[in-house]
Amino acid sequence: MKIAVTGASGFVGRAVLRAAAQAGIAATGIARSAEAATRVQAAGGTPFRLDALEAHALASAFAGADAVVHLAQIGAERHSQTYDAVNVGGTRAVIAAAREAGVRRVVFFSGLGVARYGMHPRCTNPYFLSKLRCELELFESGLEAVVFRPSYIFGPGGELVPLLLRELAAGAVTRIGDGAYRMQPIAVADAARLVLSAAAAPFAVPHVFDLVGPEPVSYAAFLERFAAAAGRLGRPGALLVREVPVERALAEARAGGWGGLLADELDCLLCDEVADAAPLRELLGAELATLDAVIEAAIAAEP
Ligand SMILES: NC(=O)c1ccc[n+]([C@@H]2O[C@H](COP(=O)([O-])OP(=O)(O)OC[C@H]3O[C@@H](n4cnc5c(N)ncnc54)[C@H](OP(=O)(O)O)[C@@H]3O)[C@@H](O)[C@H]2O)c1
Repeated sequence: MKIAVTGASGFVGRAVLRAAAQAGIAATGIARSAEAATRVQAAGGTPFRLDALEAHALASAFAGADAVVHLAQIGAERHSQTYDAVNVGGTRAVIAAAREAGVRRVVFFSGLGVARYGMHPRCTNPYFLSKLRCELELFESGLEAVVFRPSYIFGPGGELVPLLLRELAAGAVTRIGDGAYRMQPIAVADAARLVLSAAAAPFAVPHVFDLVGPEPVSYAAFLERFAAAAGRLGRPGALLVREVPVERALAEARAGGWGGLLADELDCLLCDEVADAAPLRELLGAELATLDAVIEAAIAAEP
């Protein structure tokens, strides 16, 4: 089996490449810079350099693949990058390229909030709308579309773990609001294995999976579990929370960035989305890693 991966140099993409290498699946990773190509290679993929998501060039990268895994997306509009150009335009290019290369199946990562677009204020922003438009493009394409709608994907190599460890060591962890909003973190290694299963599974298409871990958890409880795990692993684990009012964080995010995050990115944290993990267990044919196991593995991997 062979797959081609867009966004291969990213957090999820590298995990997919590592899982593919372990499973003996050949994987081409699209990379838009020399640095990205190096990351692809280090994760066990074969880099294919492309400056942009352009259909005809992508078709060459997809040649001979059994499935395309489309991960290259932006979660906020920075500089000159727009959702329309990168997320929607990129997905259209991937669809055209898959047709040209004769690849039937496309596995796409959307967002959990898409399921409640228009039903919850934090799921009703231009980011989720762009993901919804990508899903529609895929469903209408006639290709075998498999869509994963992730909650928070967690594991070594992500950005949250080093940030929280730094904050714990410095004496206070920042939390937006009361932290009652929930999330359902899934291990990046499980997400990667599910992608490989979805690339080959003989189920009815199009098919949509909510990509969630086994346990919904409020962000406040997540921080407590994280701090406790850090303590068990000999890191600073005393949790003192510094609460920032939601409206203040959102105002700063809208004005240019809160802790580097723009408003749509804060929505993904605050949107309070959870779902049923049972279909994922069925697809994987195994249990998903528990929240505490995932947290401990991610902390242990940090220097
Ligand atoms: N991580 C999560 O918790 C989470 C949650 C919900 C949904 N998702 C979805 O899961 C997918 C993967 O997420 P991730 O966490 O792996 O993201 P990531 O680490 O930010 O990686 C994004 C990837 O997309 C590429 N990319 C960005 N802009 C591009 C452009 N204009 N043209 C071509 N490539 C571009 C990046 O390439 P460079 O390396 O060259 O920058 C990188 O390979 C995304 O679709 C994301 O929306 C993730």
